[in-house]
Amino acid sequence: MIKNEVLTLIRKGINKGKLVALTGAGISSESGIPTFRGKGGLWEKYNPAIYANIPGLISVLLTRPERIVNFITDFYQVLLKAKPNPAHLALVQMEKKGILSSVITQNIDNLHQEAGSGRVIELHGNAYRIRCGRCEKTCNMGRERIEALLKDLGINKFSRRHLLKTLNKYFPHCNCRGRFRPDIVFFGEILPEDQLKAAYDELDKCSLLFLIGTSGIVYPAAGLPSYAKEKGTKIIEINNEPSAISYLSDQLFLGRAGEILPAIAEDVTKDM
Ligand code: OAD
Repeated sequence: MIKNEVLTLIRKGINKGKLVALTGAGISSESGIPTFRGKGGLWEKYNPAIYANIPGLISVLLTRPERIVNFITDFYQVLLKAKPNPAHLALVQMEKKGILSSVITQNIDNLHQEAGSGRVIELHGNAYRIRCGRCEKTCNMGRERIEALLKDLGINKFSRRHLLKTLNKYFPHCNCRGRFRPDIVFFGEILPEDQLKAAYDELDKCSLLFLIGTSGIVYPAAGLPSYAKEKGTKIIEINNEPSAISYLSDQLFLGRAGEILPAIAEDVTKDM
């Protein structure tokens, strides 16, 4: 049950202008994707100082190919199994009613798009795309192709030669002679400029920001709420524990996004 004063805050936001959502890994945890820093998360099993950057991955590839095969398999397998949950769908419901103007996400799991969100700004890329490291051309990499990659990788996972051959097949050279790579922002890399600009543009026009399931420690994404706050935007945060940026929130809901967001969406759209 959402308190009346919170609904008033949201309604005031709606009357004043746009609502925007900024999401992190927490919104997808109820879809079966463990959060990066939570229990069972990717960074618990694989050290991000090595596995979240290209030089680190290349060094493991050359020394312990089976570890790379395990990492790629663990990474894509959870994504392939995941389906949008009620939190993703609640955002779609609010967008369809004209309340929510966009979703800015740090997630690479494509679940907002799968749920039906029309305007998704991707700060950290998308695991279902590859991008040429030279000319920046992108191509979609559908589920079937990722499944085929995992199957090929599993055939002879201890052979470096087989691994390199397989990676060459799925991350080939581009016509410009550059090489395709996952269209994901690794640690230390610059965020896609057009997406970051689009995020700031949305925040410039927004009156209420939903901050959902992010630990608020990875910048520049974690800096967006304070940018919005300085412009007078109200912030409603939904997280199952306080985040590093909860001090910015006008209202903090402690709990599961998959329960809280549908309740909010139901309340604010019921008379529309
Ligand atoms: P984190 O894993 O750092 O944080 C997830 C947050 O979601 C935590 O604060 C959890 O408490 C919260 N959470 C978990 N389950 C929840 C639920 N059911 N409902 C509500 N909240 C829940 O994920 P991010 O903040 O997204 O970067 O991480 C930011 C970036 O760090 C990621 O985009 C990724 C990572 O390294 C790149 O890939 C570049």
